[in-house]
Amino acid sequence: MATKPRKILVTSALPYVNGPPHMGHMVEYIQTDIWVRFQKLRGHSCIYVCASDAHGTPIMLKARELGITPEQLTTTISKEFVDVFQDFGVDMDNYHTTHSPENEALTVEMFEVLSASGDIYTRTIEQAYDEKEGMFLPDRFVRGTCPRCKSADQHGDACEVCGATYTPSDLIDAVSVLSGTPPVKRESEHYFFRLSEYGERLRDWMRDATLDKNVLAKLEEWFEAGLQDWDISRDAPYFGFRIPGTQDKFFYVWLDAPVGYPASFKHLCQRRDDLDFDEYWRPGHDTEVYHFIGKDIMYFHTLFWPAVLQGSGFRTPTSVFAHGFLTVNGMKMSKTRGTFIKARTYLDNLNPSYLRYYYAAKLGPTIEDIDLNLEDFTARVNSDLVGKLINIASRCAGFINKNFSGRLAEQMPAPELFDPIAQASEQIAGHYERREYSKAMRVIMDLADMANRYIDSNKPWVMIKDEALTDSVHQVCTQGINMFRSLMIYLAPVIPSVAADARAFLGEDDWKWDDALEPLKGCTINKFKPLLTRVDPDRVDNMVEQSRDSMKESETVTVDDTISIDDFMKVDLRIARIEKAEPVEGADKLLALTLNVGDSTRNVFAGIKAAYAADSLVGRHVIVVANLAPRKMRFGVSEGMVLAAGPGGEDIFLLSPDDGAEPGMRVK
Ligand code: 2FM
Ligand code: ZN
Repeated sequence: MATKPRKILVTSALPYVNGPPHMGHMVEYIQTDIWVRFQKLRGHSCIYVCASDAHGTPIMLKARELGITPEQLTTTISKEFVDVFQDFGVDMDNYHTTHSPENEALTVEMFEVLSASGDIYTRTIEQAYDEKEGMFLPDRFVRGTCPRCKSADQHGDACEVCGATYTPSDLIDAVSVLSGTPPVKRESEHYFFRLSEYGERLRDWMRDATLDKNVLAKLEEWFEAGLQDWDISRDAPYFGFRIPGTQDKFFYVWLDAPVGYPASFKHLCQRRDDLDFDEYWRPGHDTEVYHFIGKDIMYFHTLFWPAVLQGSGFRTPTSVFAHGFLTVNGMKMSKTRGTFIKARTYLDNLNPSYLRYYYAAKLGPTIEDIDLNLEDFTARVNSDLVGKLINIASRCAGFINKNFSGRLAEQMPAPELFDPIAQASEQIAGHYERREYSKAMRVIMDLADMANRYIDSNKPWVMIKDEALTDSVHQVCTQGINMFRSLMIYLAPVIPSVAADARAFLGEDDWKWDDALEPLKGCTINKFKPLLTRVDPDRVDNMVEQSRDSMKESETVTVDDTISIDDFMKVDLRIARIEKAEPVEGADKLLALTLNVGDSTRNVFAGIKAAYAADSLVGRHVIVVANLAPRKMRFGVSEGMVLAAGPGGEDIFLLSPDDGAEPGMRVK
């Protein structure tokens, strides 16, 4: 293996958090996680960061539709992603959000450097505007008839029927998706990034970045078409970061989204003394940065992002690795067919190691789509993982445990069969390194076939009946266990939790890649427990059924709005006596109350005028939030809040303590 440990930083694309994680998402996170685990197993430093992509119009509108804030929406869905990552064994070093102070600071820094150098300028443009909703419309929020083929109900940027691309104003009978009204044209000043000036520098980067040939071909296409300056601003209302020096302009989500990579890393640096932000993100250091992405976002990652980094004093990525889309049973994921499977629905039914292995067995380094064929999935996992790999151990372990007190023999009878496994180490490592996982899986499974043939031909279950052959059984099974162990080390990046159980069975604390080259001899192993059971086809069917069902439910987001006991204890509730109550001039609903809270008096404005005559309140005991920060209102400062129940207006009822309560008493 390479002698010098490398310092690598790896990212996966930041998911939009306006919907739950699904099987398509998992392709990328599993692909990345395998690569990261492989690098770590080889002894390199490899940091894996990611974050939620929290900004933009769709998230803002989704939150509005659900009656919650974008922060609530993104926090809730981010948690779903984090839980799913954990349950699938996707081991990120940090998962942050783009709606973070680190991201805002870095985005503003980049913007300011680019503005100072003249790479950002403003220009007034005309855009579709929804007068009813009071907002500019992203192209996708305008629909109408295609100007070319006349197909109805097409998006504002491209026709799904004939493939024509255009702007929303080209559509016939265009309407806003939000209000159904025809959009009007309105002018607004926007900020542009001078991408057109970056052709040469991007070509230099592209030569160094050893990109996949499909990615290179796409870049060539874009260069030929000519690089266009990029609109990096959006008008309010928008969920994002406000552009410094403006009131109603925000950074376009795609400007600050990739900044989420260094921002998440920066957030990690705060708790990791061994990491230095500049070493990974400023030019001139011997570190490597890789972005794993889907093929649909290559433009952003191979043009905009390297150009923004180049222009603002940051280093560029070492390379960008793009993968294809997921199809299920040969087709686009479909809600009606039950093949739009949420990651959680999978986990409710099936072991995550199955999917990690299946994706690995299908994945290569290109942007070709990969298919999750559910029958093939069942057959492949059962045949390869259970039938070939685990079978080696289960056929040998019982004899070692029962007949030899768990102790392995001092020798292996067929070193010539172990050698090909050891010798395949660098070939398999090369496949992982180049993301040729399917090739790596094939080599490993061929070696597993060889190991099974060896056991079949020796038949320890027959030999054990002949006492004279006891030693041979010991050695054959030791040979088998070692072949299993080396193959499991090679598979550890793909099925880490099975590998961890196998390692515990073998009584080892830790594995490095090169441990696969040295067999275990003469040591004691633990009792064997089944490491993986077969895929149950009924569970697969059940998962599809549930996916059909769950999509029928209307989409809801359950916001966790509970508070902890510690939060509750922060609220200082006290008994207060109303000393004075008066109407407030110019305010229809308010009474000004002077409250005795034991050690002091407070002025509090309460919206209870419609329900209570001021005079009737004097002398009455009420409950007040005594530690509410004072709020400046139009009529004066309010220094607390009186508790009442009811919808408001005349139907509002002050909460009163029972007799005996005195001003200043703490409410418990
Ligand atoms: O396409 C997407 O899902 C984006 N949220 C990916 C962002 S990756 C990075 F640039 F932030
Ligand atoms: Zn068309």
